[in-house]
Amino acid sequence: MSEGSQVDLETIQSEALQAIESASDASGLELVRVGVLGKKGSLKQILRSLGQLPPEQRASFGARANVVKDTVEAALAAARERLGGPSAASATSRGIAQTDVTLPGRVPHRGSRHPVQLVASRMINIFGNLGFQVADGPEVEDEWHNFTGLNIPVDHIARDPAENFFLEDDLLMRSQTSTVQVRVMESTPPPLRIIAPGKVFRPDTVDATHSYMFNQLEGLVIDEEINFGHLKATLLSFFQQLLQEEGMKLRLRPSFFPFTEPSAEVDLFWRGDWMEMGGCGMVDPNVLEAVGIDPEKWTGFAFGLGIERVAMASYNIPDIRYLYENDVRFLQQFS
Ligand code: DAH
Repeated sequence: MSEGSQVDLETIQSEALQAIESASDASGLELVRVGVLGKKGSLKQILRSLGQLPPEQRASFGARANVVKDTVEAALAAARERLGGPSAASATSRGIAQTDVTLPGRVPHRGSRHPVQLVASRMINIFGNLGFQVADGPEVEDEWHNFTGLNIPVDHIARDPAENFFLEDDLLMRSQTSTVQVRVMESTPPPLRIIAPGKVFRPDTVDATHSYMFNQLEGLVIDEEINFGHLKATLLSFFQQLLQEEGMKLRLRPSFFPFTEPSAEVDLFWRGDWMEMGGCGMVDPNVLEAVGIDPEKWTGFAFGLGIERVAMASYNIPDIRYLYENDVRFLQQFS
């Protein structure tokens, strides 16, 4: 049966492929499968005659039979797919449509701006309309720009190592954006009207209103005949534009800062509460002298506002920690 068996294999394969081709449904395919690959199928039967072959032909015959089996199985699988047989049917029964062009598209997840960034840019816009330019300074500062140039003496509590993140030499993470006042005055002759938004760092214990890192927006005006009325009018105009609702009150409460004289805390009455938003004052003549500006000719005012404080007031956020936890349920509300 040597030659004949090989021929029979070819016949089995071509007949099977033909039958698969012309099958019109899943049960037709199943008939072909049983007839060829089943226990009593033609392929099984012909393999039983393997033992009668001369030993040297057995291996090649077996290999060829395997190819026929694989070919028929592949053709069956392809035909099932084509006829919407078991595989497609089970996909549909699991509720997975193959391609349903009527389904809504996949909407990509869109991020949103962080509330601190949103408020910072609103603040910058308002001050921009009041004629201020944005200035910038480094977050790693030296003691001159963070303290000495700002009239803060060496033994002042604000310079205590426990109050600051000192790095090597005389460098530290800046504890206030007032540093940018010094940098701008050193490099640019007056008149000046700048704001400087940015991060500041202090080893404070974290609670509902404090964090070891937060953002401030510094303001500085240097010109001829600048007085405290200009300062108050500027801050009032800023908060009126920011909050745009009745019932807001601004209070400048006498205070002390080494770099301003006189100095005041900036308090805002908003939605039933007084909140401290920052500090302000008339630039101390010592600060002007330290950067080589003639205090007889030039005067100015400065202020520093907490951006998180402003965000908490404008969006009614009760706890500063919400701003840093990065919980999307919180952040999404500002998109
Ligand atoms: N730098 C001060 C702070 O971080 C805030 C401040 C107070 C800034 C008075 C000023 C100012 O420009 O004039 O507490």
